[in-house]
Amino acid sequence: MKHILITGGAGFIGSHVVRQFVNNYPDNLIVNIDNLTYAGNLLNLTDVEKKSNYRFVKGDIVDEDKVFSLFEQYRFDTIIHLAAESHVDRSIANPMAFVHTNVLGTVNLLNAARHIWNQDYHDKKFYHISTDEVYGSLGEDGLFTEETPYDPRSPYSASKASSDHFVRAWYHTYGLPVILSNCSNNYGPNQFPEKLIPLFINNIIHNKPLPVYGKGENVRDWLYVVDHAMAIDLILRKGRIGETYNIGGHNEWKNLDLIRVLCKIMDKKLDRAAGTSEKLITYVKDRAGHDLRYAIDASKMLDELGWKPSVTFEEGLDKTVDWYLENEDWLNQVTSGDYQTYYQQQYGS
Ligand code: NAD
Ligand code: TYD
Repeated sequence: MKHILITGGAGFIGSHVVRQFVNNYPDNLIVNIDNLTYAGNLLNLTDVEKKSNYRFVKGDIVDEDKVFSLFEQYRFDTIIHLAAESHVDRSIANPMAFVHTNVLGTVNLLNAARHIWNQDYHDKKFYHISTDEVYGSLGEDGLFTEETPYDPRSPYSASKASSDHFVRAWYHTYGLPVILSNCSNNYGPNQFPEKLIPLFINNIIHNKPLPVYGKGENVRDWLYVVDHAMAIDLILRKGRIGETYNIGGHNEWKNLDLIRVLCKIMDKKLDRAAGTSEKLITYVKDRAGHDLRYAIDASKMLDELGWKPSVTFEEGLDKTVDWYLENEDWLNQVTSGDYQTYYQQQYGS
């Protein structure tokens, strides 16, 4: 029986990864450590919380005593590390929280794994989940490959780049069996409505302005979150130790084009006249240091592991909008309280 630790499993991507592993591997024990920040929500996991191969532990990955005693208790052979502060705008407002969790938290986990494995690395894996934002910003052309030099430009991407460097340092220095993947922008059910797609869905539902940064010309490469969870599963099973895998959707969209498509879908689903949601588009001050374009060359994933996205953007967006419309309780719960303060500070209304 494998003992798998998933960090940040109550968050957006983490909850899909927990679901994937709990359901697909009933013989493995899945332990989820999450300290339930504003972005973590146990409502994301109600369908698996009672399964016998699942445990939840509330805890901070930076807390050395907690993490070391958890490793002693469960003697994990596998770590899938997703816990992080993840939102660029918040990193601009409060960079230290990103250094704390993303850098110190990662090093704490690396130390705990090294300590507990005590150089017996047979059948052990430390899998670190990262982002394409570590590569910086592309111009009109080109794609990020696994060889693209790091050039992070936001406090978020700098903290993730730093954590990636530490993970590779533990591989080279101590021989820790690590694997990394760097993924493009995810979207789908359970994403906190501070990121573009769920924020705009929520605002359209409530007839609130859609704050487009700058001219809406920035480009992102969007991947449905379940496809990311499936890629993580595959990399864990078949990926090579010490390697990095870039995961992407082959799905580049200029923000404004994506927003227009989303507006059309929302008009239809909400039975509103065509063009209603687009009228909510409001151009606001650009994000500081706003990266122009991210796009992934995922050919290593295809060539080595046979992975490609299973869901088209049209299908994924449709499923995502349906999920938010069917889960208004979830939306209302996460947008009460602190969310109002965040929104006021970020958007001023
Ligand atoms: P998220 O913000 O939705 O969730 C993060 C989770 O980590 C939350 O449940 C939170 O409570 C938990 N957490 C935060 N600090 C913690 C701490 N100190 N101790 C324990 N738990 C803590 O993030 P997400 O979008 O699901 O991203 C998950 C991972 O995937 C991150 O490492 C992120 O960098 C990476 N990633 C995200 C995307 C994306 O588009 N969202 C793309 C590529 C990579
Ligand atoms: P986001 O979802 O924050 O992801 P990231 O910055 O990590 O790629 O933003 C996606 C794109 O949408 C990015 O170019 C910034 C832009 N954006 C807006 O125009 N308005 C908003 O209110 C938000 C949150 C994002």
